[in-house]
Amino acid sequence: MATAQIALFLVVVTVSQFRFTVADCDAVPIEKWGGSPLNRSKELSRPVKIAVVQHTVTPECSTDAECEEAVRFIREMQIKNGFDDIAQSFVVGGNGKVYEGAGWKVGAHTFRWNEKSIGISFVGDFREKLPSPQALQAAQKFLECSVGNKNLDEKYHLVGHLQLTATISPGAELQNLIETWPHWLRDVSILN
Ligand SMILES: *[C@@H]1O[C@H](CO)[C@@H](O)[C@H](O)[C@H]1NC(C)=O
Repeated sequence: MATAQIALFLVVVTVSQFRFTVADCDAVPIEKWGGSPLNRSKELSRPVKIAVVQHTVTPECSTDAECEEAVRFIREMQIKNGFDDIAQSFVVGGNGKVYEGAGWKVGAHTFRWNEKSIGISFVGDFREKLPSPQALQAAQKFLECSVGNKNLDEKYHLVGHLQLTATISPGAELQNLIETWPHWLRDVSILN
């Protein structure tokens, strides 16, 4: 019994270390900021072909402590509202860090598109201003890196949330900006 428990313990330790050492393009793992593993299990089929840019409409954050707190708050609210776990695939803080949410599991960020896309969401409200330069750079680097490790298709399409569903997300200012980014797709009617 004791031996079995030790063996199980070692397996758990090994698996969790593996998760922490295989850096997912520097995204902060959910166990690290959220204190518990993700309660979502369905894998996205990869490489993913669509990345949806969103905003959280929660207060902005700029320090690591504030941003972790912000992402924890978002996760808690969503669980309270009946979601299995955090809705967004990834969340970008004003501190320039990308936080793993649902990650490469199917999330709940974009009505009708959850099985086919990742939702990458900036902490804040970007109707009338832009995210911090650090946040913008972190998101772009993350997308590029995700192409590099084949989680995202090399010909992936970048779209604003409002292009796929009735919402103001990611905010007009941020939408205008992403329309200048590589991979941005104007005509979403070609998506399926
Ligand atoms: C995970 O989600 C299920 C609903 O699909 C829920 O019943 C369960 O309580 C959740 N588990 C945790 C640890 O939150």
